[in-house]
Amino acid sequence: MSRIPQSFIDDLLNRLDIVEVVDHRVKLKKTGKNYAACCPFHDEKTPSFSVSPDKQFYYCFGCGASGNAIGFLMEYERQGFVDAVENLAKTAGMQVPREETTESREQHFKQKNLYTILEKASDFYQAQLKDNPKRDPAVHYLQDRGLSGAIAKQFGMGYAPQGWDNLLIKYGLTEEDIGLLVDSGLVIRRDDNNKLYDRFRHRIMFPIRDTRGRAIGFGGRVLDDSKPKYLNSPETDVFHKGRELYGLYEARQNTRNLEQLLVVEGYMDVIALAQYGINNAVATLGTACGEDHLKLAFRYVHEVVFCFDGDNAGRSAAKRALLNSLTSMEDGRQIKFLFLAEGQDPDTLVRQIGTERFLEQIKTAIPLEDFLFDATAEGIDIHTMDGRARFSKVAAPLLNKIPLGVYRELMFTNLAKRTGLSSATIMELTAEKVQLANVAPTDTPTTLPNEPSPPSTSEQPPANDTYANNELHPGLPPAEPEVDYEAEYGSLFQGETPAVGHPPSGPFRKKTNITLNPVTAATLLLLDNPPLLQQLTEEQQLTTQPTDDVELRRLFNLIEYLHTRPNSNFNTLLGFWGGAYGIDAQQELAQMLATHELTRNTSLATFESTKVLCHAFDKIRHQYSTQDLNRELAELKTKGLKNLTADEKDRFRALIQSYRPKTSTDS
Ligand code: UTP
Ligand code: MN
Repeated sequence: MSRIPQSFIDDLLNRLDIVEVVDHRVKLKKTGKNYAACCPFHDEKTPSFSVSPDKQFYYCFGCGASGNAIGFLMEYERQGFVDAVENLAKTAGMQVPREETTESREQHFKQKNLYTILEKASDFYQAQLKDNPKRDPAVHYLQDRGLSGAIAKQFGMGYAPQGWDNLLIKYGLTEEDIGLLVDSGLVIRRDDNNKLYDRFRHRIMFPIRDTRGRAIGFGGRVLDDSKPKYLNSPETDVFHKGRELYGLYEARQNTRNLEQLLVVEGYMDVIALAQYGINNAVATLGTACGEDHLKLAFRYVHEVVFCFDGDNAGRSAAKRALLNSLTSMEDGRQIKFLFLAEGQDPDTLVRQIGTERFLEQIKTAIPLEDFLFDATAEGIDIHTMDGRARFSKVAAPLLNKIPLGVYRELMFTNLAKRTGLSSATIMELTAEKVQLANVAPTDTPTTLPNEPSPPSTSEQPPANDTYANNELHPGLPPAEPEVDYEAEYGSLFQGETPAVGHPPSGPFRKKTNITLNPVTAATLLLLDNPPLLQQLTEEQQLTTQPTDDVELRRLFNLIEYLHTRPNSNFNTLLGFWGGAYGIDAQQELAQMLATHELTRNTSLATFESTKVLCHAFDKIRHQYSTQDLNRELAELKTKGLKNLTADEKDRFRALIQSYRPKTSTDS
């Protein structure tokens, strides 16, 4: 593809008004400085979708959708970036310039033509199912399998007739066209004699569509028991098996706000389920479900249920899917595994037991965590010490693939419980992999700044190791660890909150020791791990108040936001941040979170974060109350002592006595 120069995109965004762009599609109402509407990206009755003309940014407080004008168009019209830019340019009366090289132009045309020829082929196959004089076996086959005409149409099913050159004759008129047919995978050119022939012959055809609904490849099934049962398009410039989910386009067409995707194994499973009103099934294309598949799925839903045959093959496929799933397990997401009885697949099962009972089965799917520990323990006797050691050796590196967050924390806790090992030991098992390639090794977080770090061995666990206290002896009730916050965590914070009205200077030190001001620390902790807030008791909570301090105000806003939306996750919060304070602030924040110790360092983030948060809140509370007194004092002082009323004088004396701020010396 030829590239659109960044300068043009900047120009375009400057000339556009996002309010107009959105209003054109979703009627907006002015609400103070901003505009509001019911969110077009999720179902709602009261408007939480907001467009800021100042920031040229939209944000939904309900679902977290956010972006600029281009992003809006991409989401709303389901367009690619280039199409969105082109559309917007048209309304702004601008011509999109291209940084064109001959190569990129050729590439662009070829891709465009590939889509075209694939679309033509798809139409051709569909038409054959209707008009080909020898279509009967295909029609009967579909009827025998219980497929309705409507569902076949919805999925664009077709028939590739008998013969070696149907597509060639119809579409391979010039050398160039033949080249396209070959490059699209529809026609095969034999290596030995250059002979050409259609790839799909006498097969039921399933077009594979991308998320924009374009045919990018095909699956073709034989009508009998011959082999291979299915033929699939090869990888081409527009078709990458590892990144496409069959049925996703149809599922999205059917349900605007999908919540869950059911990943099944076959084309026919997807279609049969849809025919039975279960419209959220997708299939990988004869490959294991990989990280890219899940990335795609989680763009649209927060829950993925894998559906596997109950036989050995199904179980080993499930294990592969499990391994590929771990990196996707961010907080707020769920993955489950459903195993069907041996010999069943979703297609046969739903036809046998019906929609309702099938849906009930889905509800019994095993959460990833259970399946992981089950699968890991397979063949190991965890009643022996040796067994538990082996068990943890297998499980720990797996857990280590889970992104930082509450879920990961719980998994490690769970592993410690199951094995009776201390977290120090478990951490050691994951040690080589805990360090991210681009993050310098760090000391144990509890190490005081100038102390040498203690040897980190299992005999001598770090002081902040909760497992060492509680769970070394799983039979005993866990001991409530007594924590002296100041002694243990005081060194984590650098000095005090900044003075009123002054943003903190250089608040984020990317050094090995955690030296944050408590406001930043609390903010980062909450963003990284929102449910922490709910874990605090009422007394431990921080009351929000008006303040002039920018960072503190943002923390208060965040706390309030979390109180009203306890299910927020990192992404929605990041969206909130961007919506409220602009894209730059959002990016800065994301970067900070990604690089900062406090949220990076596993042992701290994972095991002690509630305590650190409590301590940060304590500090802020203290600072805040002194700031109030400070301000009151300063006000009294500016009035001049002699001008004070008797009451005010009393108050002044009381203030001086109860609290001696540093500023009292400069009068
Ligand atoms: P299955 O063998 O489970 O097929 O393969 P199925 O979907 O139940 O097919 P029916 O019900 O017999 O028609 C599952 C998936 O694996 C891929 C296909 O994507 C298929 O849908 N597959 C299977 C192939 O790519 N080639 C094959 O030869 C077989
Ligand atoms: Mn089947």
